Amino acid sequence: MVREAKKKKGLTRDLHIRPFDDGTIAKLDLFRFYIREWLPVFISARTIYWNTINIYDFFAGPGKDKNGVSGTPFIILEELEPYCDIIISKGLKVNLYFNEYDREKCALLIESLGEKTNLFPVLIETDSLDFVESFNKKYNSLLGKDNANLLFFDQTGIKQINPERFKQVVSIKRTDFLFFISSSTIKRFPDHPAIAKYIKLSTKEVENTPYHKIHNLVLEYYKSLIPPNKEYYLAPFSIKKNAGLYGIIFGSNNVLGIEKFLNSAWKIDPDRGTANFDIDNDNIIPGQGNLFTGTIERPKKVELFESNLKRFIKNKTLSTDKSVYLFTLNSGMKIPFARSVINKMIKRNEIASDTFNLSNKVCKKNAIIKTINVK
Ligand SMILES: C[S@@+](CC[C@H](N)C(=O)[O-])C[C@H]1O[C@@H](n2cnc3c(N)ncnc32)[C@H](O)[C@@H]1O
Repeated sequence: MVREAKKKKGLTRDLHIRPFDDGTIAKLDLFRFYIREWLPVFISARTIYWNTINIYDFFAGPGKDKNGVSGTPFIILEELEPYCDIIISKGLKVNLYFNEYDREKCALLIESLGEKTNLFPVLIETDSLDFVESFNKKYNSLLGKDNANLLFFDQTGIKQINPERFKQVVSIKRTDFLFFISSSTIKRFPDHPAIAKYIKLSTKEVENTPYHKIHNLVLEYYKSLIPPNKEYYLAPFSIKKNAGLYGIIFGSNNVLGIEKFLNSAWKIDPDRGTANFDIDNDNIIPGQGNLFTGTIERPKKVELFESNLKRFIKNKTLSTDKSVYLFTLNSGMKIPFARSVINKMIKRNEIASDTFNLSNKVCKKNAIIKTINVK
């Protein structure tokens, strides 16, 4: 059946012919929260080091769903709106790029953007190209030394962000990206040549990974593509959407990028910061205590992190504030969790009291790094 006929009968997976479902809303919220954290880093900074800001959305859709709920292009504009005056006063160059290969959707997008295009002090470019062509067209514009880039690849399946493209994106300086991937496709057909071409995971490993954890395994695959010794940060967010398991993979070459992504993820999943469902089967009912111990139930991820952090500080595996800061982010945790462990350890006289710096400043050149003295 041709695509148009399928579309009319509502048989396609096209998410724009019906209202966005909960999974799509979770994805869009994550994107919104991240861009909300990202923009002030470059726009509101007292000293501007990068005066060109590129936000490129390579799978833009028509702009809104059937009920007028904003998709990524309008989320970008809504989040940019409060910064219009600063953009003008600081003379920043903000370039937005929206690509959507479906001509009908692209026309709808251009129509909805309408005069908004003139109201914003930004350059808005739209294209209706196949992703590869669109990416190649814009690639050089991402390389300028005065640039900060945010890229969004909201692909439909798994194919567009193939290993080569991933490595290419990871190599671009001052670039944060989010891409969407249908991780359950990999669980269902791990050794199908059409899948193995894009993601090389061992069939055994895929079989041994429960369905709801498959996106974390997919993340490990992308981690393996990062060149050894390269400072790079990746984080997952799993999304249950109808019967499927999807996910976002976030990437940044800056530690502040991953901290901001985790802040965004924890806003959507306040228990574990990593999924729009109970990925660890904690079965916690909010406010419910344990009948036997009288304590409030806590997610396994948080308990494990806290006990590991304590152990690693005590056995001096983590001996500085910088190592604690990085361990926290690499565990997918927010900094306040680490701060609370440190404060408790000081209170219990397990470590000497000091003003530890658990922020990205501790990763800067010439930062003062404090040693943790275990008692
Ligand atoms: C998951 S939707 C993106 C939704 C959009 N970000 C939003 O918030 O509404 C994927 C979009 O990519 C488009 N698309 C699919 N394959 C493409 C390709 N090879 N190149 C460019 N666009 C493509 C589809 O038409 C669809 O609108």
